[in-house]
Amino acid sequence: MKDLFDKIYKDKGPLGKWASQAEGYFVFPKLEGEIANRMKFRGNDVITWSINDYLGLANHPEVRKVDAEAAKDYGSAYPMGARMMSGHTSLHEQLQDELAAFVNKEATYLLNFGYQGMVSTVDALVSKDDIIVYDVDSHACIIDGVRLHMGKRFTFKHNDMESLEKNLDRATKMAEQTGGGILVISEGVFGMRGEQGKLKEIVALKKKYNFRLFVDDAHGFGTLGETGAGAGQEQGIQDDIDVYFATFAKSMASTGAFIAADKEIIDYLKYNLRSQMFAKSLQMQLVVGALKRLDMLRTMPELQQNLWNIVNALQSGLKKRGFDIGNTSSCVTPVYLKGSIPEAMALVKDLRENHGIFCSIVVYPVIPKGLILLRMIPTASHTLQDVEDTLNAFDAIRDRLENGTYKRLSAAVSAAMGE
Ligand SMILES: Cc1ncc(COP(=O)(O)O)c(C=O)c1O
Repeated sequence: MKDLFDKIYKDKGPLGKWASQAEGYFVFPKLEGEIANRMKFRGNDVITWSINDYLGLANHPEVRKVDAEAAKDYGSAYPMGARMMSGHTSLHEQLQDELAAFVNKEATYLLNFGYQGMVSTVDALVSKDDIIVYDVDSHACIIDGVRLHMGKRFTFKHNDMESLEKNLDRATKMAEQTGGGILVISEGVFGMRGEQGKLKEIVALKKKYNFRLFVDDAHGFGTLGETGAGAGQEQGIQDDIDVYFATFAKSMASTGAFIAADKEIIDYLKYNLRSQMFAKSLQMQLVVGALKRLDMLRTMPELQQNLWNIVNALQSGLKKRGFDIGNTSSCVTPVYLKGSIPEAMALVKDLRENHGIFCSIVVYPVIPKGLILLRMIPTASHTLQDVEDTLNAFDAIRDRLENGTYKRLSAAVSAAMGE
């Protein structure tokens, strides 16, 4: 019989297998200093394009003050216990009410973390007779939620309405047999490539099919829509999203998350979300901090304006210089280049060491082989000078990629990897 760990000793997994070459640099890098547009990486100043602090709140003096006071008043323990048992407070309720008003829904419920909250929400919304139809490029937390489902599930091609319809046809036939309903899941903004989910088109299909729509708007909340209420507001269909999700981990620059829906649905979910029922309540310092951040989202529209000034300067600058930024329709800014994984590593090293630019790098298997995706997250705390410096650096690395410099620099790694 095999030892349980045999497989682990043999195979570190699709990402883990790169650890010896990548750890500490490409993965698990240490960004140091205060969260800002410029931080330190291995002792050098870098312009940081990889932190989801969209509105620049992470290190805002008012936010830091409230966070520090809340930590002093409440510590990290309060309240103790799960919401249902002993971890419920008036401030949790107040935050829920204010969030509901902000996203224009009847009610919300707080989640300790977006990821586990999403998993449980998917789990709680369906029973075995129901059918889930979800975008194939969905975030891991949606996929994990779907994994818990005991009934049928179908994926539709990414943002492809024809494919969605085909699968809604199949799902409808199946639901008629099982006696269940249909849950459609999309993201408000797809975090890797920046495309908004086609929520308006999905909602239009409600005229033809009977389904409920659940939207993960992690990247849309605070960044899209007239008041920052997200992708549903931006596309004018917020009322038609049946269950709305956003995390505090991005625009709110904190930890925690929430779901929003009609009161009756939230009342059901709060009694059935296993990851919240059997886990400690969101810490009070995070609740107080979220109230402050939400107040700033509501009363400081200039934060969103500053963000979009940077987004527009970066995206139009990249396009003007001939870079392929795909179909982004959000702040998420991808740059697609052609090259192997070893070339991508040499390129990113050049960007970080010689140009002081820190952005995330995504390669196969997340995107097709032969493509390099440099993913940038502009924020309200970036400056136009940061954008200019970055555009110049991108020109330089593209030249070096095209003239084979990175191929030569990475020859040894390529040989070792059999590329
Ligand atoms: C689309 C999406 N959904 C959910 C999550 C998970 O949220 P959290 O970080 O609050 O667990 C993330 C990542 O933060 C995300 O990008």
